Amino acid sequence: MAKDTFADRLKQAMEQRGKKQIDLIHAAAGQGVKIGKSHISQYVNGKNIPRADILHCLATILNVDEEWLKSGQTAEVSFQEQEHMESTGGRPMREFRKSSKLNNVLYDVRGPVVDEAARMEEAGTQILKLNIGNPAPFGFRTPDEVIYDMRRQLTECEGYSPANGLFSARKAIMQYAQLKQIPNVSMEDIYTGNGVSELINICMSALLDDGDEILIPSPDYPLWTACATLAGGTAVHYICDEQSDWYPDMEDIRKKITDRTKAIVIINPNNPTGALYPREVLEQIVEIAREHQLIIFSDEIYDRLVMDGEEHISIASLAPDLFCVTYSGLSKSHMIAGFRIGWMILSGNKSVAKDYVEGIKMLSNMRLCSNVPAQSIVQTALGGHQSVKSYVVQGGRIREQRDFIYKALTDIPGISAVKPKAAFYIFPKIDVKKFNIVDDEKFALDLLRDKKILLIHGGGFNWHQPDHFRVVYLPRIEVLKESVEKMADFFSYYRQ
Ligand SMILES: Cc1ncc(COP(=O)(O)O)c(C=O)c1O
Repeated sequence: MAKDTFADRLKQAMEQRGKKQIDLIHAAAGQGVKIGKSHISQYVNGKNIPRADILHCLATILNVDEEWLKSGQTAEVSFQEQEHMESTGGRPMREFRKSSKLNNVLYDVRGPVVDEAARMEEAGTQILKLNIGNPAPFGFRTPDEVIYDMRRQLTECEGYSPANGLFSARKAIMQYAQLKQIPNVSMEDIYTGNGVSELINICMSALLDDGDEILIPSPDYPLWTACATLAGGTAVHYICDEQSDWYPDMEDIRKKITDRTKAIVIINPNNPTGALYPREVLEQIVEIAREHQLIIFSDEIYDRLVMDGEEHISIASLAPDLFCVTYSGLSKSHMIAGFRIGWMILSGNKSVAKDYVEGIKMLSNMRLCSNVPAQSIVQTALGGHQSVKSYVVQGGRIREQRDFIYKALTDIPGISAVKPKAAFYIFPKIDVKKFNIVDDEKFALDLLRDKKILLIHGGGFNWHQPDHFRVVYLPRIEVLKESVEKMADFFSYYRQ
């Protein structure tokens, strides 16, 4: 059946190919054709039809017959589909589309800009990567003792472990919880996971019914929003305020609470801003959670990467009367992101969450257990000498790199930033008026194509203005220097 209007046919082809408006814009740019956001939305909404060259480009991208797209006159199927039909004896070829549950899910830390970088690398271009918080490729090596102990235990790790984790791992995590003064934690309250990532997914799936709301920071680590959305919940973003060292804006949090709000997520230390929340800020969040009977989810994966002599405080230690879940792991502090080991600690008032915990257990049982060799070294990693400390003290590699990147970036006219206190990210602000930037993903793509530098635009962290980007400052100073020099040059001419 031919569709009636150009817009109908365009939408049908986009749906069949699983392409959104933004995908068409990028694909067209890849072919050297510039299509504006407003133009594409006019085509889709039937308010305008494209010129011949753009029509040709759209038909190519969508792999449909150009004449059909234009007038609906010729066969509705493309040449390739006709070939398929011949090979299936005349029946249309069945296509498999991703679930519509993924429609609003965003994870740009590995998204279209990263795909473009991969394409460029494939074509032989060297890319300076400032995009992903993965310490090992930047020469941050796993402590020797961890490797040695894992080797020794490998043959004992062939079978599944209990679903919530090996006794030795949970014991070490429980002792860690004691040191962080997290109250009311027993061995049953600790779960190991294939990274914190898996546990975030489990917690969101077990908690959220369709339409339930959860407060998540903006900017966030986007997995939180993605998992809440995938679970059917509504991620409601509260603002972290750059003017106040990126601390959560309490007024904004209060404004956004409704009778469907079940929980609040904090990321402390923060990715992408590098903020570390002081006690007073945490106390105010606890107060709000107490008033509205919210669960507190606290992602503390960077809790050992704190600089300037500051101390990390677990929010759960301030909320013994509330149900809290605290997450951490070894991906960052022990530079073993690839081994996939994280954990969560349920604490405080567990009596209000009995049924929810049943759900968590169910999902935890369904994945059988987390990676056992990685669990086997939790005790080694958490005990004794903490090599991570040497990176964050004065003269340590992460601290030096932090100081360098902060100064170098803020020396660029039009770029400002809050100095990070923890983790290894900085989230600088762009003077959008100066550079006329309206689309931050386009900015990231332009920087990538012009200067071969890969970073993630603020939108990738659910930051809704086009005025920020995140830099991972794990590379050595020489590499950071080269990158920032190129960025300074880029900003000297770039206007969107
Ligand atoms: C805030 C935050 N939480 C969780 C994760 C995921 O950690 P894992 O490697 O333990 O899955 C990351 C990774 O970058 C992160 O930045």
